[in-house]
Amino acid sequence: MKHKVSIIGAGMTGSTTAHWLAEREIADLVLVDIVEGMPQGKALDLQEALPVVGKDVKVVGSNRYEATADSDVVVITAGLPRKPGMSRDDLLTTNAEIVRKAVQETIQLSPDAIFVVLTNPLDTMAYLAMKVGKLPPERVIGQAGILDSARMRAFVGMELNVSVENINCYVLGGHGDEMVPLTRHSNVAGIPLRDILPANKLEAIVSRTRKGGGEIVSLLKTGSAYYAPAAAVAQMVEAILKDKKLIVPASAYLQGEYGLKDLFFGVPVQLGSQGIEKIIEYKLDKEEQAMLLKSAEAVRQTTDALVSLVKF
Ligand SMILES: NC(=O)c1ccc[n+]([C@@H]2O[C@H](COP(=O)([O-])OP(=O)(O)OC[C@H]3O[C@@H](n4cnc5c(N)ncnc54)[C@H](O)[C@@H]3O)[C@@H](O)[C@H]2O)c1
Repeated sequence: MKHKVSIIGAGMTGSTTAHWLAEREIADLVLVDIVEGMPQGKALDLQEALPVVGKDVKVVGSNRYEATADSDVVVITAGLPRKPGMSRDDLLTTNAEIVRKAVQETIQLSPDAIFVVLTNPLDTMAYLAMKVGKLPPERVIGQAGILDSARMRAFVGMELNVSVENINCYVLGGHGDEMVPLTRHSNVAGIPLRDILPANKLEAIVSRTRKGGGEIVSLLKTGSAYYAPAAAVAQMVEAILKDKKLIVPASAYLQGEYGLKDLFFGVPVQLGSQGIEKIIEYKLDKEEQAMLLKSAEAVRQTTDALVSLVKF
């Protein structure tokens, strides 16, 4: 049976997500945006690319939510991206309204869908999606950790000149500058990173990973990263549709795990057809635990600001 994935927001991340997903040939795709003609144009362009790469996928663009009916997965990328000098939290007020509407519209037409949220501030927008959609926590997943870990993997690869397939990195915590790259758990073909890289090189990689989104924003000048975030979403969607039981870092609703409650936060999760099927708890040392709590504090502040702003 063919799956259906709807992507709300057909801007840079939304349309690139459609591109990566079409290449995977795992679902028909719908792109929705408020800009007239744009989702239709992008969908048609992508549809016309698929004979070249030999993929049989239907791609539809629309300004109306009706086209999303009976989706298995809804990806929310609608909203403003950062400008240079802005933090992700600066987007809260505008994006909260956009995400609220997107979830309310789509949930009516696809009551069983799993939601993958990308819009920033990420952890807080995932929280909002769960609340306004009245969704069970396992059906809302925020994308952050695959991207942040992939950035760290890319930087380690550049330093060591080894295949990225051999590099395993794990970045947990909130999707902000306080994120927590776990150097103790990260490795190259099983060898701990700390045994391969001198401390100063490793520290530089950790710092560059934390600021990875900002580095792209300041280079692009308008807009933020899209190839890597969209590739991360495509991997999550594939894990759900194929019921892969894939363990990845992602933003999940915590109910006591890692000592945190009532918060979306980046932790290792297992993804399958039910969405988040398990939250995995690493044994953290004192230093890691302290970094995680600092990151959680930052997410908590933004989430509290949301709660004072929006009635659920
Ligand atoms: N979590 C992550 O890892 C990550 C990575 C990159 C970007 N982001 C975030 O994703 C969001 C989108 O980024 P982008 O680069 O695609 O931005 P973009 O500006 O290219 O695209 C956003 C699109 O949303 C559309 N939109 C606005 N309001 C809408 C509404 N009510 N309904 C439907 N569509 C609407 C806009 O017309 C635009 O086309 C931003 O908030 C950005 O910060 C998150």
